[in-house]
Amino acid sequence: MSWSQLVPNSDRSDGEVAVAPSVLAADFSRLADEIRAVEKAGADLLHLDVMDGHFVPNLTFGPFVVAAIRKLTDLQLDTHLMIENPDRYIESFVKNGSGIVTIHVEASTDLRRDLKMIREHGGKCGLALNPDTPLDRVTDFFGDIDLLLVMSVFPGFGGQSFIADVLSKVEAAGKIRDQAGLPFAIQIDGGIDPKTAPLARKAGVDILVAGTSIFRSADYPQMVRALRGARRT
Ligand code: DX5
Ligand code: ZN
Repeated sequence: MSWSQLVPNSDRSDGEVAVAPSVLAADFSRLADEIRAVEKAGADLLHLDVMDGHFVPNLTFGPFVVAAIRKLTDLQLDTHLMIENPDRYIESFVKNGSGIVTIHVEASTDLRRDLKMIREHGGKCGLALNPDTPLDRVTDFFGDIDLLLVMSVFPGFGGQSFIADVLSKVEAAGKIRDQAGLPFAIQIDGGIDPKTAPLARKAGVDILVAGTSIFRSADYPQMVRALRGARRT
């Protein structure tokens, strides 16, 4: 299990899970302060949720805002594209500062082409699957990805309840990966808080995405520590 290849400058060991605050839950009127605060709190990556109003019933932001965020932080930008036809925008996101670009298996018309496109433009590529999408829809691509994102809520909104059923996909993906000696990291996204984080860590998750639990807490460093938990052996 490993995520350090996704975060070149990290000084944290691979034995610990990484924490990726999702800015969706931040106060956007104070975005620069919010990002600095999670950076100081020990965040390992910054998760950016891009929604198009088609693949999911909500709209957020595009490459222009990613470029602005790129100037505010040194954190790796982990960009989760919840958009149809991601191929039209991949180049723009990478050029504007998205070091990691994750696309949905349900949204791409040609996954192999799109994953390759991310790498050709210099990004790390992630593949996401919704809670009701079986793991066998993505296993053929395990040799071509840097990150597998297992959604633990239906994408579109922050603040939803964790769907524990998806943990079996995390466990199964980890087994396949380890048996094949593949290097990709496993990420989980949706409803992660101090109660659900230990379940995800136990299932073998490498990167926890958390929006509401961090940005609605009174003490960001304490929350990041609580989510990360004790060091893994
Ligand atoms: C959901 C997004 C998540 C979301 C997580 O569509 O992909 O990244 O921000 O938010 P919480 O942690 O509040 O469930
Ligand atoms: Zn997300």
